[in-house]
Amino acid sequence: MKIRILTILALGASVGLGVAAHAATDVASTADQAKLKATIENCAVCHGGNGHSVSPTFPNLAAQQPTYLENQLKAFKNETRADPDAQAFMWGMASQLDDQMIGELAQYFSTQPPPPSEPGDPKLIAEGHKIFHEGIPAQGVPACASCHGADAAGRGMFPRLAGQHKPYLIKQLLVIQSVLRTAPVMHGVIKTLSRHEMEAVATYLASL
Ligand code: HEC
Ligand code: HEC
Repeated sequence: MKIRILTILALGASVGLGVAAHAATDVASTADQAKLKATIENCAVCHGGNGHSVSPTFPNLAAQQPTYLENQLKAFKNETRADPDAQAFMWGMASQLDDQMIGELAQYFSTQPPPPSEPGDPKLIAEGHKIFHEGIPAQGVPACASCHGADAAGRGMFPRLAGQHKPYLIKQLLVIQSVLRTAPVMHGVIKTLSRHEMEAVATYLASL
């Protein structure tokens, strides 16, 4: 008899605990959701709620590769992506984010519909198309498509460039070339790219 009561008590306690633990998970995930939503609202001030940014100097985040997004947020947080705009705009922002939030933000923005294309000068677009798909052999510049993909949608650590804003792309090519932004592979690739060639390839990419 004593044993039975104990068993019933123990059973009751474990069921009760289970219910409590379940309720705690629900509360935690609701709190997490609220925190994620509030954080996205902060990002939206510059990047737009759906990752279509509000100004061409701010990058679009929509449809960007999640691995690339995570790498960049960690690089801002660790202060290893250190070009002036990264410092001014993103270091403070990223310092507030833990790894879980970084993963959730990357997931959220990567699954938003791609940004719209931007029209540009057809001559520059044709020149940029050639650089992107064939490189510039005489200057030792490989085809961008070999890493960023033929459709410029990126893969893993290689960012999507399609539909990115032209002024942002040119700014990144300049800071990577001058090593203000460390991007070891890219730095070698675009060492000899002229300002005009940057403009052409950026016009082409924005038009996708
Ligand atoms: C006040 C404006 C502002 C806010 C708010 C802001 N960003 Fe940024 N973000 C920028 C700018 C400017 C850059 C480009 C930095 C550079 O040129 O290196 C950038 C770059 C990025 C990049 C790199 C994109 C790429 O293509 O390399 C990511 C990822 C990013 N931001 C995510 C976020 C997230 C997530 C939030 C919210 C937690 C956020 N940003 C809030 C202005 C902002
Ligand atoms: C060998 C592989 C490789 C080739 C070839 C390459 N890239 Fe990249 N590129 C990368 C990687 C990797 C990154 C991300 C670096 C990082 O994580 O900071 C990158 C980043 C970039 C960025 C920054 C994107 C952003 O959102 O901030 C631009 C712009 C870019 N590449 C343009 C080009 C262009 C234009 C070419 C051709 C002239 C090219 N890349 C060729 C590997 C490559």
